[in-house]
Amino acid sequence: MPLVNSRGLFERAARGGYAIGGFNVNNMEILQGIVEAADEKRSPIILQVSAGARRYARQEYLVHLVQAAVESSSIPIVLHLDHGEDFEICQACIDGGFSSVMIDGSRLPFEENLAMTRRVVEYAHPRGVTVEAELGRLAGIEDDVSVASRDATFTDPDEAAEFVERSGCDSLAVAIGTSHGAYKFKGEPRLDFERLERIAAKLPPDYPLVLHGASSVLEDLVEICNRYGAEIPGARGVPEDMIAQARRLGVRKVNIDTDLRLAFTGAVRRVFAEKPGDFDPRKYLGPAREAVKGVVLRKLDVLGSLGQAD
Ligand code: G3H
Ligand code: 13P
Ligand code: ZN
Repeated sequence: MPLVNSRGLFERAARGGYAIGGFNVNNMEILQGIVEAADEKRSPIILQVSAGARRYARQEYLVHLVQAAVESSSIPIVLHLDHGEDFEICQACIDGGFSSVMIDGSRLPFEENLAMTRRVVEYAHPRGVTVEAELGRLAGIEDDVSVASRDATFTDPDEAAEFVERSGCDSLAVAIGTSHGAYKFKGEPRLDFERLERIAAKLPPDYPLVLHGASSVLEDLVEICNRYGAEIPGARGVPEDMIAQARRLGVRKVNIDTDLRLAFTGAVRRVFAEKPGDFDPRKYLGPAREAVKGVVLRKLDVLGSLGQAD
């Protein structure tokens, strides 16, 4: 099956009430772990490449690795740019074979974000490429944060409706209390689901919403890392039941990177600790690939996308 853009996947996900995993790819083992899991469970997936991944592995290598995954699997796969910060990086990815891009102007004033997003949409759509945009700033809900400052940071439902209509973007990343990385909440995890409902209600029916910073920072993964010498104290993510709740309220793409990193790192650390005589990279990258596969299997279940590739 050739690479697809996200449009048809989101339409089907809305009909089926599930979400698609947006998994970050940085090297071959991560890619293989994700795709093996998704292929085995017949789940459509979005493979996403950040600017950092492009710098690390080079765009051409990642595109060709993903192409190999497309040829050797039979599930719908989207190749997506994660957090493109300007028009130029989106253009380079579209020209380089991506089927979807994110233009992230969330740091900019509303009208500037809108204008940049519109420009990317005008370049992407005639080329069959879908566009994700972002409105609002990702930040955790802390107990001492006032409603006023939450309003200033999180996605405003009326602005979201205007932004989608005027920009023509195909999906929108919203800020409702998640943040990137392994330290998402100081106290109890909380998301502004009431706001998510209001956003969905203002948008066209079944409009696809995206949740960034959605790793659960699974305790068992952190524990393995720490047991074998890592120092990741007090890490906390989005509980799995909150991910399920988000998808019930219209989230169709759930971004996961940190959980893959934790799984990968824990597996490598374990081999280093238990088999100090091993120095063949395949001896630790192989278990790391298996660990990525294991965590993706778990994610696909939470997202409800098992069996949805057929
Ligand atoms: O958005 C954050 C993703 O985890 C990508 O992270 O920019 O370090 O590749 P990165
Ligand atoms: P996590 O750091 O929660 O995995 O979020 C990843 C992400 O949003 C990538 O865009
Ligand atoms: Zn993100």
